[in-house]
Amino acid sequence: MISHFTQFTRKFSAFPVLAMVVVLFLSLQLNAQSKKAAENAAFNEKCLKCHGQSKYKYTNPESGTEVTKKMYMETIINRSQFAESNHKNFKCTDCHSADYDTFPHPGHLRMEAMYACNDCHGGDEAYAKFKFEEIESEFQASVHATKHSEDFNCWMCHNPHTYKINVRSDEKIKDIVAYDNAICLNCHADITEYQMLTDKVNPNIVQKHDWLPNQALHFKNVRCIECHARTNDSILVAHNVQPKAKAVRRCVECHSTNSILMASLYKYKVQEVRSKAGFYNGVIMNEGYVIGANRNYYLGLLSLIMFGCVAGGILIHASLRILKRKK
Ligand code: HEC
Ligand code: HEC
Ligand code: HEC
Ligand code: HEC
Ligand code: HEC
Ligand code: HEC
Ligand code: HEC
Repeated sequence: MISHFTQFTRKFSAFPVLAMVVVLFLSLQLNAQSKKAAENAAFNEKCLKCHGQSKYKYTNPESGTEVTKKMYMETIINRSQFAESNHKNFKCTDCHSADYDTFPHPGHLRMEAMYACNDCHGGDEAYAKFKFEEIESEFQASVHATKHSEDFNCWMCHNPHTYKINVRSDEKIKDIVAYDNAICLNCHADITEYQMLTDKVNPNIVQKHDWLPNQALHFKNVRCIECHARTNDSILVAHNVQPKAKAVRRCVECHSTNSILMASLYKYKVQEVRSKAGFYNGVIMNEGYVIGANRNYYLGLLSLIMFGCVAGGILIHASLRILKRKK
């Protein structure tokens, strides 16, 4: 009995010690992580003192004078956007050659091959939920890849210095739409970017969509991919952009009870709601109003109220009868 008791107390006195060890271990690890991140950020300043704004300075070794020059627009990296991006904790030289440490940069570096997303993410369990391989094959089937194969790569939509996940963070639908559409418009509203890949004349997006009433409102509330990419149940963001002939044009595809938006734009929120509570198109209700899409919400509510009334009636009736019988 006594030995049992001492065992019991011993177990419990070991508990706080164990907990403290675990906490200490975790905080040390976190500390190491944030220390590494801080080190990397400090290192990056070596690059950003030139690449972080519109001009840079260096000392000309021939004349010994300090020279101020304009930084090329394309080589400017926005500090705050980088600091919010998925790869914010990286050193610039985790992706770029360490030889960039010298200026002028050695010419051969221009020919350097860049990593692809799947060089790092492919087969990595930690990112399994994103389904990188599946996204890759969906992208390979898209118009962009089939028409421009090698030239068109993931970085063209996922800017290496600014890309951040968006649909999965608790962003407002409108912010997600704005972020994602900017990715497409980066080429489809910019002739220089577009013609990096083709000699075609960039079709005017506004004019090509003039059949859509209230176009500006639509472009604020739905993403380009809603109409242009084929959805795939197993990935969150459709990557298979289709030829224009296959684009969604029919209003009822969205403005109806089984709106395609539930499987695309609202998919993540739908999954969240489903895992928390019951499921209705209430997701749409929270964010805006897609005509038609939430009709069954009201119908559902109405039938629920009616069901409640009927059930209540039966209950009252039954209990009255039981009470009567008891008397
Ligand atoms: C003294 C200013 C300066 C510093 C410091 C500097 N760069 Fe540059 N960098 C430039 C200029 C100017 C260019 C454009 C001309 C060129 O390509 O050499 C450039 C171009 C580049 C390019 C594009 C090359 C291409 O393909 O055209 C990359 C990538 C790059 N720098 C990375 C870095 C990295 C990474 C660091 C930090 C380790 C860094 N730079 C530090 C001034 C600088
Ligand atoms: C996650 C990997 C990654 C990190 C981190 C990264 N870069 Fe890049 N960077 C790239 C890729 C990929 C390209 C080529 C993009 C392209 O060709 O469209 C690139 C291109 C560039 C260019 C050429 C301009 C351009 O858009 O083509 C410069 C300059 C540059 N990086 C500087 C930096 C600096 C400075 C840092 C650190 C603050 C940095 N990079 C961090 C992947 C990265
Ligand atoms: C050089 C290796 C490397 C390359 C190339 C790379 N990534 Fe990453 N990526 C990482 C690492 C490591 C992390 C985790 C960073 C952290 O936790 O600070 C990450 C984080 C992410 C995240 C966030 C994951 C989360 O759970 O928050 C996404 C999304 C992502 N990467 C997408 C991409 C895409 C898309 C590309 C290509 C356009 C790409 N990555 C290229 C290594 C890489
Ligand atoms: C035509 C543009 C485009 C191309 C090309 C592209 N993506 Fe994307 N990708 C997007 C958009 C838009 C999103 C949604 C971003 C957001 O809101 O989070 C996205 C999201 C993602 C996500 C996050 C998905 C999630 O579940 O949260 C990953 C991972 C990703 N892309 C990987 C890739 C890889 C790998 C490639 C190349 C094989 C690629 N992408 C090529 C446009 C593109
Ligand atoms: C890097 C530049 C670039 C980005 C980013 C980009 N596109 Fe494209 N897109 C092109 C080019 C170039 C073509 C022309 C292909 C051809 O016909 O040669 C094209 C073609 C298309 C087509 C096919 C038109 C047709 O003629 O059938 C559609 C639809 C399309 N893009 C939609 C999108 C969507 C949606 C996004 C964002 C998720 C996007 N694009 C992002 C460059 C881009
Ligand atoms: C409501 C659905 C819908 C939305 C949202 C939408 N599109 Fe379209 N888009 C279409 C349809 C339908 C066509 C085919 C029009 C035609 O053939 O005349 C088209 C045509 C196109 C074309 C081909 C133009 C041509 O004739 O070569 C491109 C490129 C394109 N859209 C890009 C975009 C971009 C970028 C966005 C986001 C800013 C977007 N679309 C948003 C439905 C949509
Ligand atoms: C890709 C999905 C989609 C397609 C296709 C689509 N819509 Fe919409 N529509 C929406 C969304 C989302 C809204 C935004 C509602 C809000 O929150 O204000 C909207 C808004 C509207 C509005 C404005 C309502 C208001 O409050 O002013 C009208 C009118 C409309 N759509 C008509 C149409 C017509 C007509 C078509 C077919 C030619 C069409 N829509 C195709 C998704 C779509």
